[in-house]
Amino acid sequence: MNIAIIGSGYVGLVTGVCLAHIGHHVICVDNNPQKIKKLKGGQVPIYEPGLQELMRACVKKKRLKFTGSIKEACQQSSVIFLALPTPPKSNGDADLTYIENASREIALNMDSYKLIVEKSTVPAQTGKKIQRTIQLNLPRKFKKGNKILLGFDVASNPEFLKEGSAVHDFMNPDRVVLGVESKKAEKILREIYKPLKTKMVVTNIASSEIIKHASNSFLTTKISFINAVAQICDRVGADVLKVAEGMGLDKRIGRQFLDAGIGYGGSCFPKDVDSFIHLGEKNGYDFALLKEVRRINDWQRRWFVRLIEEKLWNIKDKTIGVWGIAFKPNTDDIRNAAAIEIVRMLQAERARVRLYDPKAMDNARHVLKGVTFCDDPYAATQGCDCLLLLTEWQEFKDVDFIQVHEAMRQAVIFDGRNFLDAEHLRRMGFEYFAIGRGRSV
Ligand code: UGA
Repeated sequence: MNIAIIGSGYVGLVTGVCLAHIGHHVICVDNNPQKIKKLKGGQVPIYEPGLQELMRACVKKKRLKFTGSIKEACQQSSVIFLALPTPPKSNGDADLTYIENASREIALNMDSYKLIVEKSTVPAQTGKKIQRTIQLNLPRKFKKGNKILLGFDVASNPEFLKEGSAVHDFMNPDRVVLGVESKKAEKILREIYKPLKTKMVVTNIASSEIIKHASNSFLTTKISFINAVAQICDRVGADVLKVAEGMGLDKRIGRQFLDAGIGYGGSCFPKDVDSFIHLGEKNGYDFALLKEVRRINDWQRRWFVRLIEEKLWNIKDKTIGVWGIAFKPNTDDIRNAAAIEIVRMLQAERARVRLYDPKAMDNARHVLKGVTFCDDPYAATQGCDCLLLLTEWQEFKDVDFIQVHEAMRQAVIFDGRNFLDAEHLRRMGFEYFAIGRGRSV
């Protein structure tokens, strides 16, 4: 099938590459000329394991190309996926200008049937607005009074991939959700995803949009729930790791997304929770449960800094080593990273911060000022009064902690992800604090 992807960010690029990999002809569009130049040169502008190799292989097989022109992409494709950013506005609503502009441009360049598919996360009811924008902007020759003479459909097909395992998630989904309102649209989308051999949930556009809102919000609820449980664990001497294990073995609950820590971040969860709360408000429902999820998430970070303050006494002029700044491991993405917020809180208390992250240093340099950026994990611990583990990169498990102990001024570790071996570190003489493991408060 001939497919266009408008927006070559995380979701768009992975979708484009993977659809080409399973046999379709894909053209990816982006309005950033530098990005298109990079992609044409075989470079992936983000760090995502496996993506660059797969992209180059698809280009070689002539199944994948890139352009800056929506017009060119429209002319060559019958299916158009929208994978555009929907940044949050100050009132929590999503800014849909990119989606509106792209819909208008698609309409102006349509010459035959097109299926327009929402792929990146959009607020419920966006499908309807896309439909209306296309109708309004279709060239005159395709309209007769109120009648539209050129066939097109809008569909919703939310993406559930996670950064860091995006290619694997796309190729092995738990389900594919198709929000369609015509048999033709359903048939085309079923055909596109046939090679993935997975369960398909077929529904209308509004339900499909809500499936995405609800899935992400439910996962954040799980995270905030276990973080609240972790607070209790600390106070009564219980271990949240064992509690999560014991809960997670119940198939109705499941172990995933029950990792207590400094809370969720990233470009999706915080924004999606805000947007679902806002959708409720707009429609006369106070989604108080999600407001609490958000509050607990904010509190985890503030509480973590308080814990450090309590143990170090004064933070001012102390040197603090930080391992990990990405919002999670296997990505260089630092958007809404809990670690960024924590570093800023420490800087506000006038701590000196030494930082190391395996992949996110370049991005961190753009947003953090006054931090010492280090070349390796050892350098980040030099002369430190404590070390914070904020992103659970595998490489931090393999560090030689004897060397770390020698480098630090005070051998104190705060593990914001419950990642390191507590007993081993304590035996080595570290003071070790984690989240909800019964010894933090
Ligand atoms: C999330 C969803 O998991 C995807 O299904 C969805 O497609 C995506 O948002 C999206 O809407 O585009 P992602 O943001 O890539 O994916 O990252 P996750 O792996 O879900 O992690 C999000 C945050 O939650 C991270 O900061 C992570 O550290 C945190 N987290 C995750 C926890 O604190 N505890 C957990 O148990 C799990």
